[in-house]
Amino acid sequence: MAADFKGKVALVTGAATGIGRATAILLGQRGASVAVVARDPGKAGAVVDEICAVGGAAAFIAADMRSPDDIARMVRQTVETFGGLDCAFNNAGVNGVSAPFHEQTLEEFERVVQINLTSVFLCMQHEIRHMLDAGGGVIVNNCSGAGLIPAAGLPQYTAAKHGLLGLAKVAAKEYADRNIRVNSICPGVIDTPMMRAHLGQDAATIDALVAQLPGKRMGSPEDIARAVVWLCSEDAAYVSGDTMVVDGGLMAH
Ligand SMILES: NC(=O)c1ccc[n+]([C@@H]2O[C@H](COP(=O)([O-])OP(=O)(O)OC[C@H]3O[C@@H](n4cnc5c(N)ncnc54)[C@H](O)[C@@H]3O)[C@@H](O)[C@H]2O)c1
Repeated sequence: MAADFKGKVALVTGAATGIGRATAILLGQRGASVAVVARDPGKAGAVVDEICAVGGAAAFIAADMRSPDDIARMVRQTVETFGGLDCAFNNAGVNGVSAPFHEQTLEEFERVVQINLTSVFLCMQHEIRHMLDAGGGVIVNNCSGAGLIPAAGLPQYTAAKHGLLGLAKVAAKEYADRNIRVNSICPGVIDTPMMRAHLGQDAATIDALVAQLPGKRMGSPEDIARAVVWLCSEDAAYVSGDTMVVDGGLMAH
């Protein structure tokens, strides 16, 4: 039976598009009240509408992951709006500018680390403070295959995503006896706006990539959403500190 999130409150960052959007919608379909966190209301508003259309509850919460104040307010506003916070999916991220290692700039390194790693550290701190008071909760951080193996040309992305695994493992150990679970998900090649921007418009390039994937297809945002929702569910009650790879066999070794 599909996991039931009735009475639960979930927060999803980067929820306007891609994996975040699919996860917010699935959590809403399963009964959660969902804080749809994004920088602006345009596409996020459509996600809220989609959740409400299936009878769920959702609210847009504005937050830029570069702002520590926004992150603090995001958690506060979620709790004020829905009366709690049971599950958080820290998903927002950027890909970074691809360049040889020795040509990467400090500015670009710091930009990507701030959005992909520092912001998640801050999200986790605020989420955990609430969950400690509330008696428990679940956090999933969106990492990447690049958290486990290098993405050539993207040292800033690779370093940030490797760092995320460390954050989740430390928190999983520290709070296991306080009923807080923390896990990481590592998507493979997923068909989202970020991946499309990375690949460009050339159909031959995309076809060549797809041909190299074990299942001859990219993952869908929903493939990742289902795994995140499982990690958030009671079915995963004893899963914490884990790194779940969802890549259709790409990194199997
Ligand atoms: N698509 C893939 O193949 C893939 C693979 C591995 C990991 N990921 C990870 O999945 C996550 C989601 O990416 P996606 O593929 O769904 O792409 P996406 O571009 O659709 O989603 C990223 C989201 O993060 C938001 N975001 C970016 N900077 C932000 C900021 N400063 N403040 C608030 N929000 C911000 C964007 O607006 C967007 O909605 C990212 O963390 C990415 O690293 C994606």
